[in-house]
Amino acid sequence: MITKTKNSPLKFGPIGIFDSGVGGLTILKEIKKTLPEYDYIYLGDNARAPYGTRSFETVYEYTLEAVKKLFSLGCPLIIIACNTASAKALRSIQQNDLPKIAPEKRVLGVIRPTTEEIGHFTQTKHVGILATPGTVKSDSYRIEIEKFFPDLRVHQEACPMWVPLIENNEHNTPGGEYFIQKNLNHLLQKDHRIDTIILGCTHYPLLIPQLKKLIPPSIRIISQGPIVAEKLKIYLHRHPEIALQCTTGGTVKYLTTESSFDFEEKARLFLNEPIRAEHTDMR
Ligand code: DGL
Repeated sequence: MITKTKNSPLKFGPIGIFDSGVGGLTILKEIKKTLPEYDYIYLGDNARAPYGTRSFETVYEYTLEAVKKLFSLGCPLIIIACNTASAKALRSIQQNDLPKIAPEKRVLGVIRPTTEEIGHFTQTKHVGILATPGTVKSDSYRIEIEKFFPDLRVHQEACPMWVPLIENNEHNTPGGEYFIQKNLNHLLQKDHRIDTIILGCTHYPLLIPQLKKLIPPSIRIISQGPIVAEKLKIYLHRHPEIALQCTTGGTVKYLTTESSFDFEEKARLFLNEPIRAEHTDMR
């Protein structure tokens, strides 16, 4: 049994939430709703976003830097709130890096929690995934879903333009709508029986009002935030040794590798409230 004592070798600190940019705010928002008592540090690598079109090696290198940065800020637990980074870097970090750099800490992702639940939403057992090219190329969704629900048919569509459109607030323009409609049509043409679509990128929940206008009401859109938040709650309950290292002051600190002003502007779109951000580098 682990207790917080003066001489404890354990470090106590906020839960770290990492994304390539602002998309992970859709996850943070839900986590905060479900677990308001904890402290959080959100780190957005906006200077190097988007990750979705980058190589495995680059995404791994950037994600590992972010993980080390959040560890250096005292985070005992990090949620990689980015599907691309979860798909391309998480497993290596968990298996190869964590045992060497911080065996007492934990890093979790967003793909596993979603795939553990998806079979409970679909009736037809035909599921669509909308994600970045990197996530689709990794095939992580198909591989993970196969473990939990081997009878599901999974079709994926890479949407290379969606993150840049959202990051630049261009998704509501006619140009933006063209790309959204195009990828959606591609996905639905692959399989007419799809009744459930996973938004496999943390940026995409911002498109829900548009997506709802474009797809039949019989198709359900699943965003990850509420699922990840619920799974985190269960995880902390099952792992008191980790929960105990997470401080509980109800605060959130926002860090970005780009301009803090730009981050604040973009964050307002995601959170519907003003926030203050600070610039940081990854060292
Ligand atoms: N929001 C990230 C995701 O969930 C990726 C965005 C990007 O391409 O950087 O995949």
